[in-house]
Amino acid sequence: MTTTTTTAAPTRSVGTGHTRVEGRDKVTGAARYAGEIPFADLAHGWLVLSTVARGRITALDTEPVLAMPGVLAVLDHRNAPRVDTDYIGLLGTRPDPTCAAFQHDRVPYLGWPVALVVAETSEQAREAAESLVVHYEQEPHDVDFTGDHPEAYPLDNHGPAVTGKGDLDTELAASAVVVDAEYSTPEEHHNMMEPHAATARWEDGRLELVDSNQGATWVVGELAKLFSLDPASVRVRSEHVGGGFGSKGVRVHQVTAVMAATVLQRPVRVVLTRRQMFSLAGYRSPTTQRLRLGADADGRLRALEHSSLSVTSTVHEFIESSAGASRVMYDADAHHTVNRVVRLDVPTPTWMRAPGEAPGSFALESAFDELAEKCGLDPIELRLRNEPDRGPVSGLPFAGRNLTACFREGARRFGWADRDPRPRQRRDGRWLLGTGTAAASFPAGAAPSTAAVTAHPDGTYTVKISAADIGTGARTALTLVAADALHTTPDRVHVRIGDSDFGPAMIAGGSMGTRSWSWAVTAAADELRDRLALGAEIPAEGITVRSDTTAAIGALSAAERHSYGAQFAEVAVDVATGEVRVRRMLGIFAAGRIVNPLTARGQFTGGMIWGISMALHEEAVRDRASGGHVGADLAGYHVATNADVPSVEADWIEDHDPSDPVGIKGIGEIGIVGAAAAVANAVWHATGVRHRALPIRPDRVIEEGAPGA
Ligand code: MOS
Repeated sequence: MTTTTTTAAPTRSVGTGHTRVEGRDKVTGAARYAGEIPFADLAHGWLVLSTVARGRITALDTEPVLAMPGVLAVLDHRNAPRVDTDYIGLLGTRPDPTCAAFQHDRVPYLGWPVALVVAETSEQAREAAESLVVHYEQEPHDVDFTGDHPEAYPLDNHGPAVTGKGDLDTELAASAVVVDAEYSTPEEHHNMMEPHAATARWEDGRLELVDSNQGATWVVGELAKLFSLDPASVRVRSEHVGGGFGSKGVRVHQVTAVMAATVLQRPVRVVLTRRQMFSLAGYRSPTTQRLRLGADADGRLRALEHSSLSVTSTVHEFIESSAGASRVMYDADAHHTVNRVVRLDVPTPTWMRAPGEAPGSFALESAFDELAEKCGLDPIELRLRNEPDRGPVSGLPFAGRNLTACFREGARRFGWADRDPRPRQRRDGRWLLGTGTAAASFPAGAAPSTAAVTAHPDGTYTVKISAADIGTGARTALTLVAADALHTTPDRVHVRIGDSDFGPAMIAGGSMGTRSWSWAVTAAADELRDRLALGAEIPAEGITVRSDTTAAIGALSAAERHSYGAQFAEVAVDVATGEVRVRRMLGIFAAGRIVNPLTARGQFTGGMIWGISMALHEEAVRDRASGGHVGADLAGYHVATNADVPSVEADWIEDHDPSDPVGIKGIGEIGIVGAAAAVANAVWHATGVRHRALPIRPDRVIEEGAPGA
């Protein structure tokens, strides 16, 4: 049957709230995740991790383990397949050797993979893995990030490590008001609900993986290079993903699953445990940041210096580019930023939701609050007076910078006008009350992607794109975008994602996923609609149009493109117990066209809640003696729970960028930016005490006390 496609007025699905198209499957359990998809003849791998923080493996007593029930193999550095790590990966960086398991006998940190035990069942593999005795020649280690690190060096992954203009000393000397303060943030972990999990198997000469990741073609590219395979002979599928936040790229679980599947010639599954994720999944480096701000009496900045120090492992360079926040937020006559890193005997950190911006905005936006206090200016007014005309470092024009509008709307809704700027003025019984604010920005980038859209004879459509829905609602967003582009309704559009065979596409990362994929889907859908408008008969196999946005994205004008936000928090502090409660929080964002208000609100509030968690709870503590974590689990690593976030509201303003053909900006990360600073600034307002070290734990609140308490 052939039906003509309607080309009447476009429907308006984008901008109206839709529940997730896969929501029913997820709540009923029909949606399968990587670690639970059944495979015939499946074997299970269990990783054995090092128990020393530095040294060499001298022996592995594998024989008794191989004799245990169900055990099929033990892979370690003596017998594992060799991999190639000498390449530059998709994201412009070398692979972290942590994922290239079992290539040598060196141990660079505690929790380093030293063996994989493979058995018929997961329980047998675990039992055997826990029985494996590994002998080490231990060496002294250093995991201590606090303190001086003269050996630290400037580094940046995507941009210069150092930026500078103007003479800092001159401008600081000429400033009426100076803030010079050091801020610190601890080691933080993503530890999403679904652990990293992969099943690998060889099928007719093709390597197939079912995996949990943020980009199927990304993982294909890395695995192909590691194992010297033709990328066309590798297929990765990732249908549902229970969170990623930056940690779900190529990691040791996929690589060891491939190794074992190759050796055993049967499907092998490797799932990380919660505890293993603390050393194998990446994390956010702790930071020490120094901010020097100098301003005229009216608050106009003359000097801004932002220096950040973070940690990396001894085997791979990764930097938390916290000083980057200052490169796009505020200008000054003398403007200097540097990101430095120190190598310690710890696992390699990685991208974690708003890498750089999250800790960077805590330091910068806290320092701005301190400057406002010293200038006797309202913190919002100080920011408005320092709105730059062009990118402070890039010199490029801003393609829409709606920060001011966010503050105006946020201040109105939060009731900021009535605020007494003096600290320690409001009480509610034993609680001291305060409010705080902070600005947020996050880059609105886009990356080339390909998509295919098919019109079927029955009037429905299929969209295929190698996108990843890591819990963001991307699948639903793309359904709405495609429906509008095709002038149809969402129920007629079937979006298929998470399969590398759909062709290259941007990863779910950098807040660029939905923006990049929507671009490709729209391009294909537009062309398909044009072809259908010519009255083409739709054959049984449908009519398919493919798109590739490489050229279109390359043609985008050079500009500073960002999302913006204004964060507001009200806290109550009990200085006797040290308890800090966030009573309410409001974020107003300018983030382009909002595709699905329902899931978008969840993205924003999710980020804000993480900001609260960062401000008050999260901290991975490393034991200097062992070099490992104290409490590497979700009992020891505290995150905000429902009781910690009674009222968190997010909303947005009109934000139109005429130079951008899609008009969608990313919303995955902006919500966390500035959130911790807003809470910390509110704690100062409540108590009169500045907390420059996160998290603002009860013991720190008690220790710092409160003036006149
Ligand atoms: Mo994100 S930290 O770009 O997955």
